[in-house]
Amino acid sequence: MSRRRIVTIDGPAGVGKSTVSRMTAVELGFTYLDTGAMYRTVGLYMSEQGVALDDEAGIAARIREVEMELLPATDENSDTRVLLCGEDVSREIRTQDMSMAASQVSSIPEVRTFLTEMQRRYGEKEDIVAEGRDMGTVVFPMAAWKFFLDASPEMRARRRFYQLEEQGETVDFEQLLAQTVERDYNDSHRNIAPLVPAKDAVLISTDAVDAAGVTAQIIRRVLDNSF
Ligand code: DC
Repeated sequence: MSRRRIVTIDGPAGVGKSTVSRMTAVELGFTYLDTGAMYRTVGLYMSEQGVALDDEAGIAARIREVEMELLPATDENSDTRVLLCGEDVSREIRTQDMSMAASQVSSIPEVRTFLTEMQRRYGEKEDIVAEGRDMGTVVFPMAAWKFFLDASPEMRARRRFYQLEEQGETVDFEQLLAQTVERDYNDSHRNIAPLVPAKDAVLISTDAVDAAGVTAQIIRRVLDNSF
């Protein structure tokens, strides 16, 4: 893979990656690639098909049935839209249940291989801002610009709480905090492509900086170190 105009933004749940990635993509005129949406869509498909989320062999056997298409957000305020077998599932994949389902299916090697191939195809076609957990380490190790965002679990759970509330989903804060910690644990302790910063990633704490501030830091580094 050649060195490409790819920005990777990795980090744990609720760290503000989506907002920052969308804003960065709009500012640079790159396409935003939301890879979490892909894992969520696999979780939704398997749930709809009645495949148990802990049935690794069952999910591995059926992963290539998943036909998905991403319609990337074109402005800062909207989410990526996702079609699953032609049907718009953009709302269904954003629930807290699907966050947990995505985290579960993401530890299955066949799922990761399938989605990694799909993600690389996007990266070959266009300049992208790729958001996820393993963008800088596994999927696009040759990316020109890599960032890793982090924040305390409390801050991240609070962000997710307001996000879910905005979507009309009411959750218990303490339970959400526990699930955030559980999801981090799953994501960073799986055998393949665990959540870790790439050695050459720039680390940014989002505890005390808002999305616009984080985006400005990213844009500055990208422009300072342009192709
Ligand atoms: O970013 P998100 O909350 O939409 O991601 C949902 C889950 O998908 C996350 O808990 C782990 C998994 N994921 C992954 O393993 N690798 C990625 N590149 C993106 C998401």
